[in-house]
Amino acid sequence: MSINRVCVVGGSGFVGRHIAERLAARGVRVIVPTRNRERAKADLIVLPSVELVHADVNDAAQLAAVAAGCDAMINLVGILHERRAGDFTRAHVTLTEQALAVCRERGIGRYLHMSALGADAAGPSQYLRTKGEAEARVAAAQAAGLATTVFRPSVIFGDGDSFLTLFAQLLAVSPIVPLGSPDARFQPVWVEDVAHAFASALALPQTIGQRYDLVGPQVWTLRELVELVGRVTGHARPVLGLSDGLSALQAKLFGLLPVKLITYDNYLSMKVDNVSAMPYPELFGRSASALEPIARQYLGNATPRGRYQAYRDRAGR
Ligand SMILES: NC(=O)c1ccc[n+]([C@@H]2O[C@H](COP(=O)([O-])OP(=O)(O)OC[C@H]3O[C@@H](n4cnc5c(N)ncnc54)[C@H](OP(=O)(O)O)[C@@H]3O)[C@@H](O)[C@H]2O)c1
Repeated sequence: MSINRVCVVGGSGFVGRHIAERLAARGVRVIVPTRNRERAKADLIVLPSVELVHADVNDAAQLAAVAAGCDAMINLVGILHERRAGDFTRAHVTLTEQALAVCRERGIGRYLHMSALGADAAGPSQYLRTKGEAEARVAAAQAAGLATTVFRPSVIFGDGDSFLTLFAQLLAVSPIVPLGSPDARFQPVWVEDVAHAFASALALPQTIGQRYDLVGPQVWTLRELVELVGRVTGHARPVLGLSDGLSALQAKLFGLLPVKLITYDNYLSMKVDNVSAMPYPELFGRSASALEPIARQYLGNATPRGRYQAYRDRAGR
């Protein structure tokens, strides 16, 4: 199946930008629907073969219109926090059902789905449960004849992420870090490795019907990640690991703030280790990149002090 035109739903976000650029570099025409074209334009390097289209993909007719003429659809839509009750179900499950229906009705034969490591309809958090329910919808569509592939990354890092970058911002202003769930384990994967997997899968028919975990080479606890960010930015701070009870309380209180650093649902997600025994899939022709040197580059360069610290780290001083 030759793929020349791809609709990347959720393509205006952190991961989507990297996938769109990779596809464009391979000569694929990329259509990215967004609810906020001006904001997306500022973030997405708009290449001649990437078309940003103003559309609300929650509206089936608008999604069908932007996907018209595409050979494949990639669905990256995901949220970490609800604004209104039911947002997780709407963004993860309902939208997936809608995307699959558009593929069926419009004869789009290839569908790539962004899930998350630990997604499980019986998981501890709404995030993981609704991601798991969405995977079940994709499996049903695969059984009904659509060529699908599912990706389950651990936390994704890279320039523009909202995970390590958030810690860097926090460490810059806070003399001490009271850290909830300090022993939660992650296997962070580089955004370029994720984008490479998506772009490669479109060209590899053996990925049809498969589900891949995407993880980096190393397991880190949350505490270790915060300490790493402190080192590379030159803002190393004492990290005060909170007990489980205090972690839950912190997450509940922070969840009430307008800017969501963490919510109770995030705390529940961290109840299960975000790690995998499945290495980065060999068929994509590369191995997953280590976090530290890349984090040093994009976080270390953020401040003059961080740049100085990065030089010192490199020199082993
Ligand atoms: N980042 C990570 O560490 C990580 C780890 C594992 C899995 N994932 C999954 O990877 C995917 C992409 O993550 P990301 O970090 O790139 O997210 P992001 O930067 O927040 O981007 C999310 C995208 O989804 C769209 N979107 C969000 N809510 C929507 C809604 N209710 N209706 C329609 N569109 C909506 C946004 O489009 P608009 O332009 O219209 O706002 C945006 O393009 C998500 O499914 C996420 O769960 C991410």
